[in-house]
Amino acid sequence: MSKPPSVLFVCLGNICRSPLAEAAFRQEAARVGVEVEAESAGTGRWHIGEAPDRRAQAVAKRHGIDISAYRGRLVSREDFHRFTHIVALDPDNLRVLHALSPADATAEVSLLLDHVPGREGEAVSDPYYGDLSQFEETWADVALGSAALLRKLAGGS
Ligand code: 4NP
Repeated sequence: MSKPPSVLFVCLGNICRSPLAEAAFRQEAARVGVEVEAESAGTGRWHIGEAPDRRAQAVAKRHGIDISAYRGRLVSREDFHRFTHIVALDPDNLRVLHALSPADATAEVSLLLDHVPGREGEAVSDPYYGDLSQFEETWADVALGSAALLRKLAGGS
Protein backbone atom coordinates (compact mmCIF):
# COMPACT_ATOMS: atom_id res chain seq x y z
CA MET A 1 0.00 0.00 0.00
CA SER A 2 1.31 3.46 -0.81
CA LYS A 3 1.97 6.10 1.83
CA PRO A 4 -0.97 8.32 2.81
CA PRO A 5 -0.92 11.78 1.26
CA SER A 6 0.92 14.38 3.31
CA VAL A 7 0.05 18.02 2.83
CA LEU A 8 1.89 21.15 3.92
CA PHE A 9 -0.21 24.35 3.85
CA VAL A 10 1.83 27.53 3.43
CA CYS A 11 0.98 31.21 4.02
CA LEU A 12 3.09 34.20 5.06
CA GLY A 13 3.11 34.19 8.86
CA ASN A 14 1.85 30.67 9.67
CA ILE A 15 -0.38 32.11 12.38
CA CYS A 16 -3.67 32.80 10.54
CA ARG A 17 -4.47 31.23 7.18
CA SER A 18 -2.30 28.10 6.98
CA PRO A 19 -3.03 26.83 10.52
CA LEU A 20 -6.75 27.23 9.72
CA ALA A 21 -6.26 25.32 6.45
CA GLU A 22 -4.39 22.56 8.30
CA ALA A 23 -7.20 22.36 10.88
CA ALA A 24 -10.00 22.33 8.29
CA PHE A 25 -8.20 19.67 6.24
CA ARG A 26 -7.61 17.46 9.30
CA GLN A 27 -11.23 17.84 10.35
CA GLU A 28 -12.58 16.97 6.90
CA ALA A 29 -10.23 13.96 6.62
CA ALA A 30 -11.45 12.68 9.99
CA ARG A 31 -15.08 13.26 8.99
CA VAL A 32 -14.79 11.24 5.79
CA GLY A 33 -12.40 8.67 7.29
CA VAL A 34 -9.40 9.31 5.02
CA GLU A 35 -5.90 8.85 6.43
CA VAL A 36 -3.73 11.93 5.79
CA GLU A 37 -0.86 13.82 7.31
CA ALA A 38 -1.01 17.60 7.50
CA GLU A 39 1.17 20.45 8.73
CA SER A 40 1.51 24.14 8.02
CA ALA A 41 4.38 26.59 7.60
CA GLY A 42 5.12 30.19 6.65
CA THR A 43 7.40 31.92 4.18
CA GLY A 44 8.13 34.74 6.67
CA ARG A 45 10.15 34.54 9.87
CA TRP A 46 8.21 36.84 12.21
CA HIS A 47 6.16 34.23 14.05
CA ILE A 48 8.44 31.19 14.25
CA GLY A 49 7.68 29.23 17.42
CA GLU A 50 4.48 31.17 18.14
CA ALA A 51 0.98 29.80 18.65
CA PRO A 52 -1.64 30.80 16.04
CA ASP A 53 -3.19 34.26 16.25
CA ARG A 54 -5.81 34.34 19.04
CA ARG A 55 -8.54 35.21 16.55
CA ALA A 56 -7.61 32.16 14.43
CA GLN A 57 -7.67 30.02 17.59
CA ALA A 58 -11.14 31.38 18.43
CA VAL A 59 -12.56 30.68 14.97
CA ALA A 60 -11.08 27.16 14.88
CA LYS A 61 -12.54 26.48 18.32
CA ARG A 62 -15.94 27.71 17.15
CA HIS A 63 -15.70 25.10 14.39
CA GLY A 64 -14.71 22.35 16.80
CA ILE A 65 -10.91 22.29 16.59
CA ASP A 66 -8.28 23.25 19.14
CA ILE A 67 -5.24 24.68 17.33
CA SER A 68 -3.60 26.20 20.41
CA ALA A 69 -0.71 23.69 20.32
CA TYR A 70 0.23 24.49 16.70
CA ARG A 71 3.52 26.41 16.41
CA GLY A 72 4.75 28.64 13.61
CA ARG A 73 7.60 27.40 11.49
CA LEU A 74 9.35 28.36 8.28
CA VAL A 75 8.92 26.31 5.11
CA SER A 76 12.19 24.57 4.15
CA ARG A 77 13.69 22.96 1.05
CA GLU A 78 13.44 19.56 2.79
CA ASP A 79 9.66 19.97 2.85
CA PHE A 80 9.66 19.51 -0.94
CA HIS A 81 10.76 15.91 -0.35
CA ARG A 82 8.97 15.25 2.93
CA PHE A 83 5.45 16.09 1.76
CA THR A 84 3.54 14.74 -1.22
CA HIS A 85 1.71 18.07 -1.63
CA ILE A 86 2.58 21.67 -0.74
CA VAL A 87 -0.36 24.03 -0.96
CA ALA A 88 -0.08 27.82 -0.99
CA LEU A 89 -2.85 29.97 0.45
CA ASP A 90 -2.30 32.80 -2.05
CA PRO A 91 -0.51 33.46 -5.35
CA ASP A 92 2.33 35.47 -3.70
CA ASN A 93 3.29 32.56 -1.48
CA LEU A 94 2.87 30.19 -4.44
CA ARG A 95 5.56 32.21 -6.27
CA VAL A 96 7.84 32.03 -3.23
CA LEU A 97 7.37 28.26 -3.10
CA HIS A 98 8.23 27.85 -6.78
CA ALA A 99 11.39 29.92 -6.24
CA LEU A 100 12.38 27.86 -3.20
CA SER A 101 11.64 24.46 -4.73
CA PRO A 102 14.72 22.27 -5.35
CA ALA A 103 15.10 20.95 -8.92
CA ASP A 104 14.50 17.39 -7.73
CA ALA A 105 11.45 18.20 -5.60
CA THR A 106 8.92 15.39 -5.36
CA ALA A 107 6.06 17.37 -3.79
CA GLU A 108 3.29 18.64 -6.01
CA VAL A 109 2.92 22.39 -5.47
CA SER A 110 -0.47 24.07 -5.94
CA LEU A 111 -2.71 26.97 -4.94
CA LEU A 112 -5.49 25.99 -2.51
CA LEU A 113 -8.38 27.64 -4.33
CA ASP A 114 -7.24 26.20 -7.69
CA HIS A 115 -8.87 23.02 -6.37
CA VAL A 116 -12.26 24.74 -6.20
CA PRO A 117 -14.08 25.11 -9.55
CA GLY A 118 -14.81 28.78 -10.17
CA ARG A 119 -12.27 30.04 -7.62
CA GLU A 120 -9.09 29.29 -9.63
CA GLY A 121 -6.24 31.75 -9.13
CA GLU A 122 -7.82 33.35 -6.08
CA ALA A 123 -6.14 34.09 -2.76
CA VAL A 124 -7.64 32.97 0.53
CA SER A 125 -8.27 36.40 2.04
CA ASP A 126 -5.65 37.51 4.56
CA PRO A 127 -7.53 38.30 7.79
CA TYR A 128 -4.50 39.59 9.75
CA TYR A 129 -5.59 43.24 9.68
CA GLY A 130 -9.29 42.39 9.89
CA ASP A 131 -11.78 41.44 12.58
CA LEU A 132 -13.33 38.12 13.58
CA SER A 133 -15.75 38.24 10.67
CA GLN A 134 -12.78 38.20 8.29
CA PHE A 135 -11.39 35.17 10.10
CA GLU A 136 -14.78 33.49 9.55
CA GLU A 137 -14.48 34.32 5.85
CA THR A 138 -11.01 32.76 5.85
CA TRP A 139 -12.43 29.69 7.56
CA ALA A 140 -15.11 29.37 4.87
CA ASP A 141 -12.43 29.56 2.14
CA VAL A 142 -10.06 27.05 3.73
CA ALA A 143 -12.92 24.65 4.50
CA LEU A 144 -14.02 24.78 0.86
CA GLY A 145 -10.47 24.44 -0.49
CA SER A 146 -9.36 21.67 1.82
CA ALA A 147 -12.52 19.62 1.20
CA ALA A 148 -11.98 19.92 -2.57
CA LEU A 149 -8.30 18.98 -2.18
CA LEU A 150 -9.19 16.00 -0.03
CA ARG A 151 -11.70 14.74 -2.59
CA LYS A 152 -8.93 14.81 -5.22
CA LEU A 153 -6.45 13.05 -2.94
CA ALA A 154 -8.97 10.43 -1.87
CA GLY A 155 -9.76 9.90 -5.54
CA GLY A 156 -6.12 8.92 -6.03
CA SER A 157 -4.81 11.92 -7.99
P1 4NP B 1 -0.91 34.60 7.79
O1 4NP B 1 -1.20 36.11 8.27
O2 4NP B 1 0.12 34.72 6.67
O3 4NP B 1 -2.23 34.16 7.31
O4 4NP B 1 -0.40 33.85 8.99
C1 4NP B 1 -0.20 37.01 8.59
C2 4NP B 1 0.43 36.91 9.81
C3 4NP B 1 1.42 37.81 10.14
C4 4NP B 1 1.78 38.78 9.25
C5 4NP B 1 1.15 38.88 8.02
C6 4NP B 1 0.15 37.97 7.68
N1 4NP B 1 2.79 39.72 9.60
O5 4NP B 1 3.04 40.63 8.80
O6 4NP B 1 3.38 39.57 10.69
